[in-house]
Amino acid sequence: MQSFPGRPTTPVAPEVVIVGGGSIGCSIAYQLALDGVRSLILERDYLAAGASGVAAGMLAPQVEAPFDDPFFDLTLAGRKSHGPLAAALYEDVGLDVECRATGILRVALDEADRVELQRRQRWQTARGLRADWLESEQLGECEPLLNGVAGRLLAGGLWLPDEGQVRSPRLVQALAAASVKRGAMVVEGSWAVGFERRGDRISGVRTPQGIVSAETVVLAAGVWSTDLAQTIGLDLPVGPVKGQILTLRAIQQTPRTVIWSGECYLVPRVDGQVILGATEEDGNYDRRPTLAGIGSLSEAALEFLPAVGQFTIEGIWAGLRPAAPDRYPIVGRAPGFENLILATAHYRNGILLGPLTGRWISQLIRSGVVAPEFAPFGPERFISSGH
Ligand code: GLY
Repeated sequence: MQSFPGRPTTPVAPEVVIVGGGSIGCSIAYQLALDGVRSLILERDYLAAGASGVAAGMLAPQVEAPFDDPFFDLTLAGRKSHGPLAAALYEDVGLDVECRATGILRVALDEADRVELQRRQRWQTARGLRADWLESEQLGECEPLLNGVAGRLLAGGLWLPDEGQVRSPRLVQALAAASVKRGAMVVEGSWAVGFERRGDRISGVRTPQGIVSAETVVLAAGVWSTDLAQTIGLDLPVGPVKGQILTLRAIQQTPRTVIWSGECYLVPRVDGQVILGATEEDGNYDRRPTLAGIGSLSEAALEFLPAVGQFTIEGIWAGLRPAAPDRYPIVGRAPGFENLILATAHYRNGILLGPLTGRWISQLIRSGVVAPEFAPFGPERFISSGH
C-alpha cells in the first residue's frame, strides 16, 4: 500500500478497503473493527459529506412503509439496532449521537390521507406494533403545536410512539472514531477513480495518490458508486433522488415530537434545532439547494402548521439519496467478482439500515454467508454474472 497524507495512518495494510465515508461505509468499518478485521475508508471529500450529512436521521420504518413486506422486517430490525449502538458508541468514544424514541405523528391532511393512514394502522397493529389513531381534537395532547385550530383543521393523525431519530452526521463521526480506535484507517480527501482488475478479482483501488490494494473492496459510495462500477464494466442502476432540507430554530414553540404530513416532516433535535425536510427530486445530480425546493418545503409546512412561519432559518442543505429502480438497497457480492462487495442504494434508509448493513457485510466478508433477511436485496436482481 502507498502512504497517504490524511489521518490517521498505520503501517499495517488493510484487509478491506471501503470506498465511501458515509453512514454505510463507516458502519461497515465499525463492524469489521469489532470483528477484528482491519479496514481503510477512502472518502473523496470528508466524512458524511454526502447524503448522510444531510439526512434528518429519522428511525422511521412504520411511517415510511405503505405495506408489510420483507423490507419492512429489515427496517424494523434496523430501528432496533440503533439504541444499543448509540450506547456502545457513547461508552467507546464519548459521542452522544442523540438516539431517542421521540415518536412520529403522521398527520392526515384530508379524508384520503385519513383512510390511507387508518389502513396502515390496521396492518401495523395486527403485527403487534404500536400505532394509535388520534382524532383531530386529540392531536394537541400528543403535540402541543397542534392544539386548537391547527389540529382541528386536520383529519386526525397516526401516532407511532416507537419511531425515533438519531443525529446523522454525529453518528457517522462516532462510527469512524470507534473504528479508528480499533485500528481502522480513514483517509479523507482521497477519491477512488477506478479499480485495478485481475480476472475476476479487484487487486486495488486507484486514487490520485496511488493504488491501494486490499483483499476485499467494498463499494459504498452512495450515488457515486455507479461511476466507479462502470470502470469495470458493471452497470449499477443507482441514481440520485435529491433531498433538500432547512434547519430551523424556534425559541418558544419547538415541536415535542416528529410531525410528518406526507408532504414534509419536522424533526426536533435535542439542542432546539428543527429540521424541515425533505424534497424528492428524481434524477437530479446538482447538490445545491434551490429556491423552488426550499419554497415547496416551506409552503408544505405552513399549510398545516402556521406556527412554523415564526421559526428562524439556520441553514439550507441538499443531499443525493442513492436509489435503485425498485427503491431497495443493493447489498452483496458483485456478480462476476470474487472480492468486490456492493453496499449502496439505501435511498431513504441509509441511516436506519447502516448498522445492519455493517453487520451483514462483515459476516459476508468473514464467512461468505449471506444473511437470509438480506438475500432479497442482492445485486443479482440487476446485474448478471456474465456482464
Ligand atoms: N428518510 C427521510 C428522507 O430520506 O427524507
